[in-house]
This record gives sequence, structure tokens and C-alpha cells, in this order.
Amino acid sequence: MCGIVGYIGKKQASPILLDGLKRLEYRGYDSAGMAVWNGSQIDALKVKGRVAALEKLLAGHPLEGPVGIAHTRWATHGEPSDRNAHPHSDSEGNVFVVHNGIIENYKTLKQQLEKEGSVFSSDTDTEVLAHLIAKFLKTGSTLERAVKKSLTLVKGAYAIVVMAQSEPETLVAARLSSPLRIGVGADQLIIASDPSAILNYTSQIITLEDNEVAVIKGVEYTISSLKSDTVIDKEVEQIEWDLAEAEKGGFDHFMLKEIFEQPETVRNSLRGRIIVEDGRAVLGGLASVEERLRSIERLTLVACGTASYAAMIGEYMLEEYAGIPTEVAIASEFRYRKPILNPKTDAVLVLSQSGETADTLAAVKEAKEKGVLTLGIVNVIGSTIARETDAGVYNHAGPEIGVASTKVFVSQLTVLALVTLLLGRQRQMSSVMGGRIAEALLKIPEQVEVILAQSGAVVAIADQYKGFQDFFFLGRKYNFPLALEGAIKLKEISYIHAEGGASGELKHGPIAMIDEDFPTVFIVPNDSVYEKNVSNIEEVKARKGRVIAIATEGDADIAKIADNVIYIPKTLEMLTPILAVVPLQLFAYHIATKLGLDVDRPRNLAKSVTVE
Ligand code: AGP
Repeated sequence: MCGIVGYIGKKQASPILLDGLKRLEYRGYDSAGMAVWNGSQIDALKVKGRVAALEKLLAGHPLEGPVGIAHTRWATHGEPSDRNAHPHSDSEGNVFVVHNGIIENYKTLKQQLEKEGSVFSSDTDTEVLAHLIAKFLKTGSTLERAVKKSLTLVKGAYAIVVMAQSEPETLVAARLSSPLRIGVGADQLIIASDPSAILNYTSQIITLEDNEVAVIKGVEYTISSLKSDTVIDKEVEQIEWDLAEAEKGGFDHFMLKEIFEQPETVRNSLRGRIIVEDGRAVLGGLASVEERLRSIERLTLVACGTASYAAMIGEYMLEEYAGIPTEVAIASEFRYRKPILNPKTDAVLVLSQSGETADTLAAVKEAKEKGVLTLGIVNVIGSTIARETDAGVYNHAGPEIGVASTKVFVSQLTVLALVTLLLGRQRQMSSVMGGRIAEALLKIPEQVEVILAQSGAVVAIADQYKGFQDFFFLGRKYNFPLALEGAIKLKEISYIHAEGGASGELKHGPIAMIDEDFPTVFIVPNDSVYEKNVSNIEEVKARKGRVIAIATEGDADIAKIADNVIYIPKTLEMLTPILAVVPLQLFAYHIATKLGLDVDRPRNLAKSVTVE
């Protein structure tokens, strides 16, 4: 996610803005910038790279003055570059905007503004805001009014701070879905994406809610809503977090923070990409190859680790709902075997959070060597794999700090469902079926929230099982790959031996391991293979094996045979893994933390495996 800092007070703004950006570096970013009013005009500097690069620029070209805004950019639209860095301004350099979020309808707004004579200087969605606000200022609006009018035209998510030459001692801030807070100091106000950029100066913090707009003049502020100028009396909270806690949003670890971010992650992955009425997915990143995709007769999904398990779930989706023969290859194998690929009818789709995994990148190059269409589902904008593939879909999951992948795995499944929708509707899938998938997808965020609300039950189960040294994770169909994910989640952060597998394989060997010291986690939702899974559970129980079941809420029968049950809401079979993975993540997290292990930085692991 991008980082925002705004300052207004009696001190020099730029050192405080720079300190704030440094506190926000943990969020991940690719460029940085700042704009400061120096008493007569607003000057701005921005640069691709680290905050240190901006600091170096400032050393040679100081921005002096008591009012300013600053930003670290996590690219969503437009490659990381100097010109795409924030702040963004209008053609005449009157308005300066920093933004965290996604403006879904920016293309429409941009076309209209260009027709009216606006000249754009970046590829970003954010820049449309600067031109819109400048346009309304020209009609005589105040900065507050111009911002409100502009935001009523915007669809998407935003946290913004705006300043203008015409009202230089005023900052206007607003939010919808992206966090924004105001630190209230004795003689200064600091606006920031999260408390870590504020706590050095004050612990008195106001949290803006969706559709709220703050106008800050001098050291006075008023808060109203987008739709009404009625002043809202906001509570000033005393935030006692230390800096480390602030970076984690009050959670003990980034991994837990990212698990709890998942409802918003799914919303961001879906944002602007679903048309429910005719059951279609709109994936801008595939537009250039959409016609070629109609003639694809086979897909090969390639990835490593957790991403490969997402790919395996995608295989079931694409075959069952898009009717495309699909196979999954582990990247480190694909690149050395002799894959038979037809450039006319094959496509290779790779999944990678980092976009830098060496084996996956090598697989892309191998596929390109064979003239095959290469697609990517990647989280890091502008990463090597994103640039090497012919087309692709960004996760829009924001930076994932915890080494163990959680929210990006959930985003990968969400995006795979969108790709399935797009390809399926190009083929035999009806608008009715498409609409059903679209509606089910839109319900997922609130269903994940329901599961997170019962995380206490998972904590109790983790406490009960933290002493065991061996686990099976078993599932069928869509939840067989999920069982593999459950196993890797546990072993990579708790170092406990865990094996994932297909429930149907139990009697072909693994069942020999079962006894009261070898518990099994069954993913057994109420789906097309429910009865088969129940039989497997009974086989394990008959050998004194303990069973933890992830089951569909309302299934009372499962509680009669399993030792522990964690319930998840009902959804389409193809989407069940997005819900069922949440208890598995929490189970692994709470066992590892109860064992006192470093959950965010597990031993021997790296966040991105850029070597073979
Ligand atoms: C996930 O929990 C692991 N850290 C690991 O398996 C990871 O998924 C794998 O290394 C692939 O990384 P990528 O998605 O960045 O390519």
C-alpha cells in the first residue's frame, strides 16, 4: 500500500514529512515524493526508488516551509518511475495530490478531462484527481468544495491529502476504504496512513472514517462528510502503541495483520473487475490478448510453493467452470522437463507474489522460447515476471511483509476465479452461471470477516494441539491443494512436521501413520465429496486418530465424529478454499506463536527465492 504524510504547523515541514515516510517504508513502495509551500509557492520533488533518494534530492534542493504533503508509492496503475511518483498536480501546477488506493473509473474521467484540455503527465489513476480539483477551483469553488465535488465523481478506494497554490495554508484530506489518520499536536497537525508516522510527535490521533473529509487550516481542523458540510465531532484517541506495534497496526505480527487484512484484500482484488448483471469479469491486464485467449485449448499453470497450491486449485476451477484442459507444473520441474507446447493453442499462466522467483521466471522464459502465450498473476507491480509475461493480472493485495504467504494466496484464488469467469464466459459458461460466481465472489469478504470473528475458537484448538509433532492435512477436489497449503503454513512457521494430501490416498499408505499422537486436519465442507471425506474421517477415528474438521456452518453431524470443528460459511465449491484457508492460517499462526517462534521471519526462509 502507498504511504501518505501531511504536515501543517509552526515547524519546517520537510524533515517531519521525511521522517514520516521513513516510518512508512515497511509498507513496501517503489518511489517517493514531497510538496511543500514555502510561503510564496508550492514546490515538489519526486523520484523512483527509496526515500533515501528523495532525501538526497532534498539535500540539493531543500523544500522549506510549514505546510506539506509526502508519499511513498506502491504502484497500481503505471510502472514505478519519477513521472508516476506522487504528488501529482494539474497542468498549471496549482493542485498537488497524494493518494493511496485505486480509482476504478479513472480512464473515463481522464478521457473527459483531456477532451476539456487537460494535459496529463503520468500513467497513474491518481493524476485525474489533481485535474478534477483544479477544474472545480477554476469555477470559484473553495479547495474543500472542489475536493468534495471531485470525489463524488470517483469510483474506487482512496485516502488523499490535497494542497493548492490558491489556498496554500490549507490541507484537505479524505478517505474511502484506505486508512487515514490525523495526529493532533499542540501546535501542529500530522496526517498519515497509519500511526507509525505520527507517534513520534503526538499520541492524540483521530481516525477518519469512510466518506469523511477533513479541512485543516493552521492548527485548526474541521471534519464533515462528502455529502454534507455538517461538522462531525470526532473522538481523539490516545494511541499507546510503540513504533513496532504501530507498523503492525496493533497486531503482534505482520502475518496476523495480513490474515486480518484478507477481507479488504479480496475487495481490492475484485475492485472494478466484476460485472454481475451479465456475469462477466473485466481484466484490463488481459485485454490485449483477450481475443487470442478464445483459441487457447490448454493451459499450463506454473508456480512455486504456496503459489503452486493456488495454481492447483485454479486447475479445478478452470476445468470445471471454463472447460479448458489445465495442468499444473512446479516451476523448478517445468524448466527442466520437456513440456510439449503448441504455440497456437497452449498458454502458460504463472503465479508469483514477488514476481522475482527464479524458477518461475525461468519457466516463463522457457515458455517464451517455445513461442507460447505467457500470462502472469503477480502482486508486485513492475516486477521481472510481470514485465516478462505477455499479459497478466495484478493481485492489488498490497505488500506482503510476512514470509509465510497469506493474503496474497487468498488474492491468487480470487484472481484465478476471475480468470475462470472471463475464460468460461468466452466459452460455454452461461450468464446465469457467471452471475452466480460473481455474486458468490462479492460475498467472500464479509464471509472471511465472519471466520475472523471466531478466531478465538482457533486459538483454543491451537493451544490443545501445540505439543504434537506430526500432522496430516487432508482434503478432496478443490481442498486437496488446500490441504497442501495448510501443511506448508504450519511447517514453515512452527517447524512441526506436517504432510498434506488427498483424503482418498489415506488408505494407500499414509493411514499406517495414524495413532493418537498423529492428528489429522480434514477440510470437509458440505460439497460434492462430503460423504467420501466423512468416511475417511471415520477411518482415522477407528485408529484412534484425533481429527480437527474445517466444516460448513450448520453441519452438526461432523461434530459427532470430529474431535474439534471450525465452521466456515457456505459458498460455491470452487470458492471454498478462499474461506477454508483462513482457519488453517490462524491454526498455524497460533501454534507457532505459542511455541515462541519468529512468525514473520521463520528460520531458513526468504520472502522471495531469487536463486535456484
Ligand atoms: C509461501 O508461504 C512461501 N513463503 C513460499 O512457498 C512462496 O509461496 C514461494 O516461494 C513462491 O513465491 P512467489 O509467490 O513470490 O513466487
